[in-house]
Amino acid sequence: MHDYYIWTIGCQMNKAESQKIADYLEHFGYQATDSLQKANLVVVNTCVVRQSAETKVLGMLGYLKGMKSQKPSLSVLVTGCYVDSNIKQLKKSFPHVDLFFGPSEYSELLNWADNQTTAIPKNTQGSTGQILNVVAFVPIIQGCNNFCSYCIVPYRRGREKSRPVDEIVCEVTGLTKRGVKEVTLLGQNVNSYGKDLPDQPSLSDLLTELNSIGELSRIRFLTNHPKDMSQQLIQTVASLAKVCHHINLPLQAGNNDILKAMGRGYTAEQYRQLIYNIRTYIPDVALSTDIIVGFPDESHEQFKQTLTMLDNIRFDTVHVATYSPRFGTAASRQYKDNTPPGVKKERLNQVERMQAGIAADINSAYKGKSMEVLVEGKKDGKWYGRTHSNKLVFFESDDDCLGRLLDVTILKTSPWSLQGRRTS
Ligand code: SAH
Ligand code: SF4
Ligand code: F3S
Repeated sequence: MHDYYIWTIGCQMNKAESQKIADYLEHFGYQATDSLQKANLVVVNTCVVRQSAETKVLGMLGYLKGMKSQKPSLSVLVTGCYVDSNIKQLKKSFPHVDLFFGPSEYSELLNWADNQTTAIPKNTQGSTGQILNVVAFVPIIQGCNNFCSYCIVPYRRGREKSRPVDEIVCEVTGLTKRGVKEVTLLGQNVNSYGKDLPDQPSLSDLLTELNSIGELSRIRFLTNHPKDMSQQLIQTVASLAKVCHHINLPLQAGNNDILKAMGRGYTAEQYRQLIYNIRTYIPDVALSTDIIVGFPDESHEQFKQTLTMLDNIRFDTVHVATYSPRFGTAASRQYKDNTPPGVKKERLNQVERMQAGIAADINSAYKGKSMEVLVEGKKDGKWYGRTHSNKLVFFESDDDCLGRLLDVTILKTSPWSLQGRRTS
């Protein structure tokens, strides 16, 4: 009767917020269902970073309109970055939606649930008894002050707001009591963490505090901003045992004029220097990055500079997207989206092809090596988990390996994952 289903797209921040929404709903007596059709309450957690994401959101809202006309008792709640400040207009456009609430505006969800659920017995224990996954996302800073010219995120998530260190330490300690072994700290720019707090703790200070939580095995964090990543942070990552040697550092483009038009605040040379510093202190670091191809006026030569950077730096992982003009951003006002879709797609394919080769090469070097894997689950009869360097590893075992740190000797590799034999 009170079954809920949460549909989520977008970044890890959205995934973290969907988990929080699930916790709140369970507190109000709702139960999760894995079938959209069976749900009486559907929460749609949206993303609008590119047109392709927004199109999926609109498709889902259209689908739910049909579903609600068949089942009028269905409640539809919409959150995430599709929800802008003009709620009145949204309500007018989507009359079948019961509630729009902005990202992490949980008080509105709670008010709504409070008014709905008089008949549902509340779970007075809260949901803290529930066993969670082995890994969890923990937002540490909301919003973004950067306004990269192409990006809609600051318009939907507002300005930077950090959570106090004590609150985060308390949350992570609580998570470890529910079985979590690894946390990924989240923010649009985690390097700004703490600047808005009274005693201005840094991300290094926060990592140092979290590193001493006994039951926690690993800590990751993303996303870094190349203009803000400090030398102190690099040294902290190198020195703290639980902080993984895995750094996400979005490059976006390899040409300085494009970087300038994007408003990124660094040059290709500064980025290279930063990578050099990171590798000097953390020689076994795994690096990942984000790239946009087909930004307005990006010439073939300028695009080649992105390829050259990728070829020289040799990232472990590259997330590549074609430029998508977003209404309201500076780039969409100032520049024409003048790279033809076919050219954008071809550039995307070129990046993916090059990266598949680089990743295959990097991963093949792990063959025969023993790696420590934190086991996250089982899929198609095989256990899987990740290494410190965020490599996905599959292996077989009859034991219950969930949540354990195990040594696995790598036997087979591909650009995307590793296969091995358990040795501990
Ligand atoms: N705060 C992070 C991530 C922001 S959104 C950062 O600074 O990198 C995630 C990624 O989506 C970005 O890194 C960028 O590569 C991509 N992206 C953002 N806006 C985009 C747009 N308008 N078109 C195409 N890709 C975009
Ligand atoms: Fe968007 Fe730039 Fe902020 Fe990242 S740093 S969220 S790309 S504005
Ligand atoms: Fe999408 Fe918002 Fe994340 S636009 S990428 S869900 S911050």
